[in-house]
Amino acid sequence: MTAMLEGRRACLGKNLGLKVVQSTLANMVHGFSWRLPDNMKEEDLNMDEISLLTTSKKEPLVVVAEARLPSHIYTALGSSEVHFP
Ligand code: HEM
Repeated sequence: MTAMLEGRRACLGKNLGLKVVQSTLANMVHGFSWRLPDNMKEEDLNMDEISLLTTSKKEPLVVVAEARLPSHIYTALGSSEVHFP
C-alpha cells in the first residue's frame, strides 16, 4: 500500500483506485450475506500471511455468499438474465 500512496512514484490514480475498491467492497457487503461453508468453524480459519510482491493470505478464504436483496437488483445493465446457483 505504501508504494501506491507515497513517494516520488506514488500512484497517480490512487484516489480513483481506492474509491473503486471501497465501493466494490461496500456493494459486496450490502448485496450479500456472507458465511463460512457448513463444514467450517471460525477457529478453522487460517489467518497466516505470505509476503511476496504483495502480502496475501497463505490459504485462500472460502466463503458462501447469499443474495440478500430482490433479484432484479443484481441484473447487470443490458443483460436480461442473471443466474444464482
Ligand atoms: C487499486 C488500484 C490501484 C493500485 C493498487 C495501484 C498501485 C500502484 C502502485 C503500487 C504504483 C507505484 C509503482 C512504483 O512504485 O513505481 C502505481 C503507480 C501508478 N499508478 Fe496506480 N494503482 C491503482 C490504480 C490506478 C489508477 C485507477 C490509475 C489511473 C487512472 C493509476 C495510475 C498510475 C500511474 C500513472 C502510476 C505511475 C506514477 C509515476 O510513476 O509517477 N493507478 N500504482
